[in-house]
Amino acid sequence: MDLYQIIRDDHRTVRDELKALSDKTQPARAKERVFLKLWRILMSHNLAEEKVFYTPLLENDSSKDAASEALEEHRVARTVMKEIDTTPPDGGQWSAKLTVLRELLEHHFHEEEGTLFDHARSLFSDEQTQQMAKDFMTEKHRAAPSLEMPAMAGHSGKG
Ligand SMILES: [Fe+2]
Ligand SMILES: [Fe+2]
Repeated sequence: MDLYQIIRDDHRTVRDELKALSDKTQPARAKERVFLKLWRILMSHNLAEEKVFYTPLLENDSSKDAASEALEEHRVARTVMKEIDTTPPDGGQWSAKLTVLRELLEHHFHEEEGTLFDHARSLFSDEQTQQMAKDFMTEKHRAAPSLEMPAMAGHSGKG
């Protein structure tokens, strides 16, 4: 398992969901379903990343500023996600918030796959990143069932 590839793959999935959400022809109900999927993926990805990837980067002088910035971006993304969750999906405000989220995450993924990966490659051995990859998958699966779910999940019922 390659830690960097796992993270990149998650980013691609999140990008795909964001793109699907931006499709204005979709009915509100379909948007809610995609949003729920996005929520699960992004929140469990971020939690695993914070625990397994950011923690050692925060402990290092050379990478701690970049890791703090990334952590702050997770916090902002969560806030915007919560706002989208409580905004009616058929209005202009919803689309505007979604655009903000897309831009924020695009910037975040770019920095993560660039600056943070560079730091990690210089700090961690192959053995260490292999272990981190395993831990990342474990954390992601552990986080999923206990995630705080969006309010929207209650609106659309099952499915
Ligand atoms: Fe990430
Ligand atoms: Fe991240």
